[in-house]
Amino acid sequence: MRDYILLFVNGKRNRIDGADAFRTVSDFLRGVLNLCGTKIVCSEGDCGSCSVLCGTPDFQNRRFSYKPIDSCIRFVYQLDGCNIVTVEGLADNEVQGGKLNCVQQAMIDCHGSQCGFCTPGFVMAMTGILEDSNSPSENDWRRGLTGNLCRCTGYSPIIEAGLRSDTKSSASMNDCFEPTAMLDAIGNAASQEITVTSNTQTIYSPTTIDQAVQYLVQYPEVKIVAGATDVGVQFNKGNCEAEVWLDLNRVWSMKTVSLTGGAIVAGAGATWSDIEILIENDLPQFHQILTWFGSPQIRNVGTIGGNIVNASPIADSLPLMFVCNAELQLTGGDGTREVNINDFYQGYKKFDLQPGELLSQIRIPLPEDDEELRLYKISRRQDLDISSFTGAIKMKLSGRKIRSAVIAYGAVGPVVLRLPKTESFLAGKELNEETMVAAGEIVVSEIKPITDVRGGDEYRLQLARNVLLKFLHEVRPEGALA
Ligand SMILES: Cc1cc2nc3c(=O)[nH]c(=O)nc-3n(C[C@H](O)[C@H](O)[C@H](O)COP(=O)(O)OP(=O)(O)OC[C@H]3O[C@@H](n4cnc5c(N)ncnc54)[C@H](O)[C@@H]3O)c2cc1C
Ligand code: FES
Ligand code: FES
Repeated sequence: MRDYILLFVNGKRNRIDGADAFRTVSDFLRGVLNLCGTKIVCSEGDCGSCSVLCGTPDFQNRRFSYKPIDSCIRFVYQLDGCNIVTVEGLADNEVQGGKLNCVQQAMIDCHGSQCGFCTPGFVMAMTGILEDSNSPSENDWRRGLTGNLCRCTGYSPIIEAGLRSDTKSSASMNDCFEPTAMLDAIGNAASQEITVTSNTQTIYSPTTIDQAVQYLVQYPEVKIVAGATDVGVQFNKGNCEAEVWLDLNRVWSMKTVSLTGGAIVAGAGATWSDIEILIENDLPQFHQILTWFGSPQIRNVGTIGGNIVNASPIADSLPLMFVCNAELQLTGGDGTREVNINDFYQGYKKFDLQPGELLSQIRIPLPEDDEELRLYKISRRQDLDISSFTGAIKMKLSGRKIRSAVIAYGAVGPVVLRLPKTESFLAGKELNEETMVAAGEIVVSEIKPITDVRGGDEYRLQLARNVLLKFLHEVRPEGALA
């Protein structure tokens, strides 16, 4: 058992205990280490000004894996054993010897910075792109920067800077921050349980599900933290206070994801980035949705379990899981039980998770070969925006005949809704425009959308009808109007 967090920052070791372990990473960097290059603007993961690179140890390959994260919604206690690289560390290391790295130089050459407030965040995200590829395409630069906002430049000079970066001269973070000494310093600390206390709070950071469940049983009021992309936002807004926290980031068995037996089998702590890579070929419809999910910084830490238990009716992953009958594995003091996701939610932010239980695993069966699946995310902006409407439609077809239909819509009620009347109306019908228009009238009798900042109720009702027609045009373009 350890009572402190071991965190490297720009390769330098920090032993962090007491209240500092509970700070957000951006606050710790600026307020404790005086590394003020990391900026804070929104404090809710939207602008990317606070982006840093988080290197997580990969003991097997004797290196760190570096990815951009938003440091304003990450807590120090979540980063035990990691190496955080800030904008100050890009030049100040043995390889660069004080010289700016290639994207910093290109940002100067291309006038990618005006007021400069967003610049460190962009530079960190751009350096993160180079960790994945040493010759990124324009699309790679554009997709990799969807988590960063700039009020001044109009973005073109920043993309230009990416394209003109002398990537051949770029040193990787594992070159700049020699991993062996850091990995040796961590040693077997990675497998130690951690408990850190301050005057007002305690954080438990177990490494196995059994240990995690013991804490849940012992402290029923404990607040679970996974990626903290929801919890961190609420914390910064003053809406999430707890005396006892349970960090699942070091429960290694909950972080794996695989394609097994025709299904995605994900530990609840698997990140969206890991899932995105895994399913690209086997579930391209969901892969597309995930490319619009938050931003790289959000997907690098946000987890599938957090999305499910956060229980938002506009969570982007839920319609897919509803139509595929995902099985949730819930683990508590009395063992493990399985619940179909269609039976999990009981009302707005209410669900079938008992005190002392956590969500441990999710199994999502892939669609069969004769099933057509389409997923919809409609938002005011394509990237980094919360959905106004989400939907999943899965149909088994024989020629033009619908053998069965399964539909789930989000943002049309307090929970994601299955549409049983519409589903049974469609079964046995011919897939054509007349059928889908008639189905649209049944759909609107099954949902009750509200008006909010993301759309009016009438708009959402129209979307609910329209996506049925969109499905028709997508799966049967040749006969859509017949
Ligand atoms: C800028 C931004 C953009 C976003 N964009 C999107 C988007 O496009 N689409 C979308 O759907 N969401 C989006 N989100 C929301 C969020 O990223 C997702 O819901 C994410 O999957 C949450 O995962 P997490 O690990 O960060 O959860 P956390 O914040 O760690 O936890 C969320 C909730 O789940 C509970 N919890 C977590 N894991 C478990 C577990 N294993 N067992 C029991 N309880 C658990 C926590 O106690 C908490 O109540 C966005 C958030 C931000 C800040
Ligand atoms: S300050 Fe805006 S994402 Fe962190
Ligand atoms: S340069 Fe001013 S916000 Fe980007």
